[in-house]
This record gives sequence, C-alpha cells and structure tokens, in this order.
Amino acid sequence: LAKIEVNLAEIPEGKSVTFKWRGKPLFIRHRTPEEIATERAVPLESLRDPQSDDQRTQDPKWLVIIGVCTHLGCVPVANSGDFGGYYCPCHGSHYDASGRIRKGPAPLNLEVPPHAYDGSLLIVG
Ligand code: FES
Repeated sequence: LAKIEVNLAEIPEGKSVTFKWRGKPLFIRHRTPEEIATERAVPLESLRDPQSDDQRTQDPKWLVIIGVCTHLGCVPVANSGDFGGYYCPCHGSHYDASGRIRKGPAPLNLEVPPHAYDGSLLIVG
C-alpha cells in the first residue's frame, strides 16, 4: 500500500512516466547522458535550493520525484520549461532535469521520495 514497485526496463531512455503514489503524482524519468552531464555541471551557487544532482539521485540515469509544485501544489508538466525539466503552468515555475527550482515563484526543489533499486526494479516508499 505504502510502497510502489516500478519495472524500469519498460521505460526507455529520454522518457518520463507518471505514476501515482500515496495520492500524489510520481514522476520517473530515464535521463539521457546529455541530461545527466548538464545537471551535474550546474554550479550549486546558482541554485535557489542548493542540492547537487548527486544528492538527488542514487543512480544518475533515473530521476524519481514527486510531481507537486513547491509553490502552491499544482502538477508540473514534464519535458517542458526553460531548463529542460518541468514547468508548472499555474504561476510559471521552471524546474531542471534534476527537479530543482530554477526560475519562478516556487521556493524549493521538487521532492525526492525515499526509493531503492533491486536490479531493474525501483521501489518507492
Ligand atoms: Fe506551481 Fe504556483 S503552483 S508555480
């Protein structure tokens, strides 16, 4: 009930998929090598809520985040916005492909839920 298992083998590189977890949207993104390189190169001092990409991902190929905007709770749109990540259309918050807030009114990065890997299985919760 509190946990969800996702077979990562079914999510091709470059694709972002939405699941539901504890009543909230759960975004899982299979990042490309280019996206990973871009996010790893972002200087921490340029971030509003400074977190390295490394802190936010256990396996850099996979971004696992809660799809609830930290401004007022709308659901951001994947693969959109000025930073190659997520865009919240409610008041224009832009998140990068690490789910970090980069522009707009949201104060914090998109939340990374507790998660673990078991082979090609992702367990969230
Ligand atoms: Fe997302 Fe306001 S709720 S920008």
